[in-house]
Amino acid sequence: MNTFVYYNPVKWIFGKDTLESLKGELSSYGKKVLLVYGGGSVKKSGLYDQVFDQLNQAGAEVFELAGVEPNPRLSTVKRGVEICKQEEINFILAVGGGSVIDCTKAVAAGAKYDGDVWDLITKKAPVESALPFGTVLTLAATGSEMNSGSVITNWETQEKLGWGSPLVFPKFSICDPSYTTTVPRDHTVYGMVDMMTHILEQYFHNTDQTPLQDRMCESTLLTVMETAPKLLEDLESYEHRETIMYAGTIALNGMLQMGYRGDWASHNIEHAVSAVYDIPHAGGLAILYPNWMKHNIDVNPKRFKQLAVRVFGIEAEGKSDKEVGLEGIEALRKFWSSLGAPERLADYQIDDSRLSDIADKTLFNGEFGNFNKLNKEDVMSILTASL
Ligand code: NZQ
Ligand code: ZN
Repeated sequence: MNTFVYYNPVKWIFGKDTLESLKGELSSYGKKVLLVYGGGSVKKSGLYDQVFDQLNQAGAEVFELAGVEPNPRLSTVKRGVEICKQEEINFILAVGGGSVIDCTKAVAAGAKYDGDVWDLITKKAPVESALPFGTVLTLAATGSEMNSGSVITNWETQEKLGWGSPLVFPKFSICDPSYTTTVPRDHTVYGMVDMMTHILEQYFHNTDQTPLQDRMCESTLLTVMETAPKLLEDLESYEHRETIMYAGTIALNGMLQMGYRGDWASHNIEHAVSAVYDIPHAGGLAILYPNWMKHNIDVNPKRFKQLAVRVFGIEAEGKSDKEVGLEGIEALRKFWSSLGAPERLADYQIDDSRLSDIADKTLFNGEFGNFNKLNKEDVMSILTASL
């Protein structure tokens, strides 16, 4: 294990009817609230009215930033920043999935910055202050509700960049699984693929002596895999939504990644694909991740074998570590396919015409990945295998 500091100040409020606590949580902040939400699912489900009721009870004066797109765009962030500055907003409330929360994080930081908010996302300027914000989560996937990361797309330059700061941890996140029962099948699948990939990105590291971390990753993966088919049989099941919502937060709130650094190269590659083709984040991951695995298996075949044996139940007797690892990768791909996740870039009508351009985008900060450093040739090889 390496030395580490674990810091996570988010008040995680989890379970049925926890929205009731919203008015109380709001009482610690000023009354001018910016409510941020997506393309309308919150209105359809009735959550919008319930949130508004809480805001009214808290005596809030409410302003709105509506229509945050999946893969949230810089233009929308800028609209939010403008409202915050003009109306002197005291607190932001995000109601939605990862996109709404990520947009809110950028608005919160941008509202306290004098220049162009893109400077903060490209790390040209440091985040020095941010408005406080809370979240009501409606989709289990990204873990954004309990981490300090955010991903924003600049559609004009076709860049999708991750950034973060300890100043953009939510003050609280209300996670009632009931609000995820309306998530359609495709986004339910994407959410589960995303959280599994977050665990795998962390699992592949070269640090010795992480036995408990390994078991925590493996058990979270096994729990998602055990629950996924049951949830897809019954999308309205509170019980299964509860398990998945809990797993999604645990997968990326720092609990699993103590004492080592995860890899995260596949996320970088996926963000570049989404920046050009605007595909769902985890649709891209389901395609790319197994190919990243195959490309890197020789770096540490033992680790791939461990995953294959412990999570996918692959029989290891008489086989090399690599052979067992490869069977594990195939089992992962088959599992995701069984849920209905895409397998090839062609499933999104993506051909080889812009692969080189995508690869260049992944290298904006030079070679990347912590398990194994990737250069352009590596990225091209992973992308080509994914066509
Ligand atoms: O916009 P609305 O109408 O709300 O519909 C959304 C959207 O179309 C819908 N949805 C959400 N909750 C719903 C619902 N539909 C019915 N009932 C509900 N309860 O689902 C669609 C997808 O929503 P989105 O927020 O885009 O999904 P997700 O949570 O997967 O977020 C994806 C974004 O997060 C970034 C991704 O790159 C992508 O931009 N990520 C953020 C991370 C982070 N901050 O830590 C890490 C991740 O790896 C990821 O990169
Ligand atoms: Zn992800």
